[in-house]
Amino acid sequence: MTSNPTEPYVGPRPFRRTESALFHGRSQEARHLRDAWLAERVVVLHGPAAVGKTSLLHAGVLPLLDDEPRTLTLPVGRLIHQPTWPLAHASGPGGYRFTLISSWTPARQTPDPEQSVSSALESILAGAAPHRVLAAIDHMEELFTAFPARLPERDRLIGELAQALRDLPLNLLLLVRDDQLATLSGYEGLLSPQPFAYVRLDGLGQASAVAAVTGPASHSGRRYAPGVAEQLVERLRKTTYTDRLGESVEIVSEQVSPFELQIACAALWSGLGGSTDTITAELLAQLGDLTGILAAYFDRAVRDVSLETGVPEPELRAWIETTFITERGTRGTAYRGLTQTADMPNAVVDALVARHILTEEQRARSLWYQLGQERLVEAIRTAHHAAPARDRPQEHTPADFRAAAEAALGEGNFISARRFADVAASRSLEQGDERQFANLLAFKAEVARVEGDLEAARETLTAARSQFESQQDALATVRVLTALAEVCLSMGSPDEAVDLGRQAVARMPGDVAARTLLAHALWRAGSPADAEAAYNDALDLDRNAARALYGRGQVRIALRDFRGALADLDRALALGLPRSEEDLARQAREQALERLGG
Ligand SMILES: Nc1ncnc2c1ncn2[C@@H]1O[C@H](COP(=O)(O)OP(=O)(O)O)[C@@H](O)[C@H]1O
Ligand SMILES: [Mg+2]
Repeated sequence: MTSNPTEPYVGPRPFRRTESALFHGRSQEARHLRDAWLAERVVVLHGPAAVGKTSLLHAGVLPLLDDEPRTLTLPVGRLIHQPTWPLAHASGPGGYRFTLISSWTPARQTPDPEQSVSSALESILAGAAPHRVLAAIDHMEELFTAFPARLPERDRLIGELAQALRDLPLNLLLLVRDDQLATLSGYEGLLSPQPFAYVRLDGLGQASAVAAVTGPASHSGRRYAPGVAEQLVERLRKTTYTDRLGESVEIVSEQVSPFELQIACAALWSGLGGSTDTITAELLAQLGDLTGILAAYFDRAVRDVSLETGVPEPELRAWIETTFITERGTRGTAYRGLTQTADMPNAVVDALVARHILTEEQRARSLWYQLGQERLVEAIRTAHHAAPARDRPQEHTPADFRAAAEAALGEGNFISARRFADVAASRSLEQGDERQFANLLAFKAEVARVEGDLEAARETLTAARSQFESQQDALATVRVLTALAEVCLSMGSPDEAVDLGRQAVARMPGDVAARTLLAHALWRAGSPADAEAAYNDALDLDRNAARALYGRGQVRIALRDFRGALADLDRALALGLPRSEEDLARQAREQALERLGG
């Protein structure tokens, strides 16, 4: 692989909020969806799997709402962390409601597991009275597919959302896959005082697809020679279908699958030399056909899934071919059993869905799987013929697994991240590398925290802590103690957080992050004066610690020192805060200003 100017194509994962500059071809859809969300109580955005719903919301719509006056837009909500937990894990604070509320709650605020949706939203607003609150729930289908045993919980959540729509100036945006649209519509009367507004998302039309190909490249300082992007899009529009009688037909679609577009563009980009500034027809020709590119993607995916699940590669390939491609060369289907799908553990199916090799679809009362793209039929057969004699097992080091885990976490694929981390941890134990093992525990806790499973995060951090302590690694111990305190805060145990914060500070009195966290915990525990003193200690060590200034500013509002608060918040904002805190700091600043003026 060559050294390339920054990779402009995001590949198989959804776009993030911060990638709007790379997001092209959806400007009309983004404006339309924004307008609907601002105007309607409940908007449903629906479309097939992998058509770009999540991306449109994060990179297309949210940036358009930045300067919307008197409107508060919450972070995007989710209902479950991931769909493969055993049922037992799904009850309690891991429930739909708590997960939803946690995902809506800005960082550093503490969600309360007992609160209803309405009162949680009230706490998030914290006295501010915006004209309207915009809240979205991505992957709404998870409410219907994930845990059939959780029907009562589902109905309770619908009831609480309905209540919140009555209590607050709330506009909901629900993202759902087409196969669950009918089920969701069935709740219309229960949920909303008004009919749902429906917005449908299709694949990319020709002109939009060209924009999605060329836009990101120009952002990285390269361009396509005239007509080349159009040629690539033409290829993406053509698929060969095999019908039930075994006849092949080439179909030219009006639309392009954004997923295939990503795979093709990423492959094209990685093949370019470092000095290329124009992508010519010759370079496109060297790329080979799309089936081959998809075959290479399939190979990589199978390798990763094998690594992740322990199912040997040849077995995995054979299973995919026989289960999902019929003798006639059409797409086959299999339904999800309680633990297995067509004799493979469900973990394998989930890992393939996460990589868009399979898609999930609800039919009647069960979930069915088939290949994610028609073109995969041919690609898998190609991959089969080209499959190298790679049957000899390859030795991977714990570091390989750790890298794979980090990559998966970066893509938001928590299931894979956790499994890779597990393998890495047990390998490093086998090799007697205790330091590596402890680091992996801390990493696993990070995964759990990102996905919102706080209980697991706490448990794993506690284990990491005793490892680091027995290795007498003070720096790592303090890091873990601080993280542990933060998790306790998120779980609504401020006293425990204070205790942990004190231990961290005692071990390393010069650690600004530990002191800042202790201050924050003291505030949450109801001692604003102690909190202010602790923030002062942190700021004595580093007078430009933005988060400590932000914290002290908030505490000073509670202590009615509005002038001091304003000065702190202004400095914190000037120094720069993480995005989630920046919004809150601005709100706090307005509050201080108001109180000063009044
Ligand atoms: N406008 C776009 N341009 C290029 N690629 C896109 C665009 N929108 C989505 N994608 C890609 O399509 C794939 C599926 O997107 P995603 O947002 O996850 O879809 P969904 O939420 O509908 O399942 C991802 O690889 C994503 O990067
Ligand atoms: Mg999505």
